[in-house]
Amino acid sequence: MPKFRHIVRTQDFKLDWLDRLFVQAAEAEAAIKDRRARATYRLDEWQMFELFYQPSTRTRTSFAAAMMRMGGQVIWTENAREFSSAAKGETPKDSIRSLDYADLIVVRHHEEGTVALMADQDVVPIVNAGDGPGQHPSQALLDLWTIKKERGCLEDLTIALMGDLKYGRTIHSLVYLLAKYEPKKLYFISSPDLALPDDIIAYLSRHGVSYELIDDVRLVAGEIDILYQTRVQKEYFKIAADYFRVASRQIIDNSIMRLLSDRARVMHPLPRVDEIDQEVDSDPRAAYFRQTRNGLFIRMALIRYVLGFWD
Ligand code: NCD
Repeated sequence: MPKFRHIVRTQDFKLDWLDRLFVQAAEAEAAIKDRRARATYRLDEWQMFELFYQPSTRTRTSFAAAMMRMGGQVIWTENAREFSSAAKGETPKDSIRSLDYADLIVVRHHEEGTVALMADQDVVPIVNAGDGPGQHPSQALLDLWTIKKERGCLEDLTIALMGDLKYGRTIHSLVYLLAKYEPKKLYFISSPDLALPDDIIAYLSRHGVSYELIDDVRLVAGEIDILYQTRVQKEYFKIAADYFRVASRQIIDNSIMRLLSDRARVMHPLPRVDEIDQEVDSDPRAAYFRQTRNGLFIRMALIRYVLGFWD
């Protein structure tokens, strides 16, 4: 049993814990709305470090905003590959051991598994903010809460995940969560080069989840409750020509939106390149900016969980 609470992979979360997280997130949302988050949560004596070895807009700032809105303090290094002692050859293990005076550390790293290794040190709570093409749990939790808010439930939904299913860490984390809610059907829409990793497919089969791999969203558009589009993760392609061959194969534009039902929602973890046409943004079914906003509240709840304020 680890001494500290770490958030590393989504397989570990239990349904009743997810319910409690959503209650905490809704309370955080209300506290922000009433401008009483600092007075309610009083984290003045708590300090969070952010160690980001890879670029980020939303994740880093929303973790920082979450902590600061609750009165806590934040210290960060962006581009830690260059600006931290990693550039001098320090191992991630040593970096974490030297930062053990933090109350929690939020880490984004370019290699899958490194954040787990840091958590294994168990010297300070670690939150995985993305580990290479591995996982991105806080994103998947905010995605799940967004689905619940937009659709009113999480069970019995038909959810299509498309784009880069191979390197997309938000997809990996989200699929494990969706599998817990007995979806009616999961569609995985990608070219064969960007298909979901075999171990995740095997997980779905083991857990009796109904899924299908297809290559064109138009085949199933009318059935879809949630369409989750993703960016092709250019940074993991060694050869540029390979990226350009598969990039933005299927774009969501108004011609696709016309095939979706009125109650369907389109989601995207962002950043978007061109895989959702900007003409879709004004459609009320485009939920991606609402989704991003939910990140602040989920991260407030997560920080407080990791610090031991709720179970
Ligand atoms: C995602 C990521 O970093 O994995 N972004 C995010 O955190 N919202 C998705 C992406 O970069 O495409």
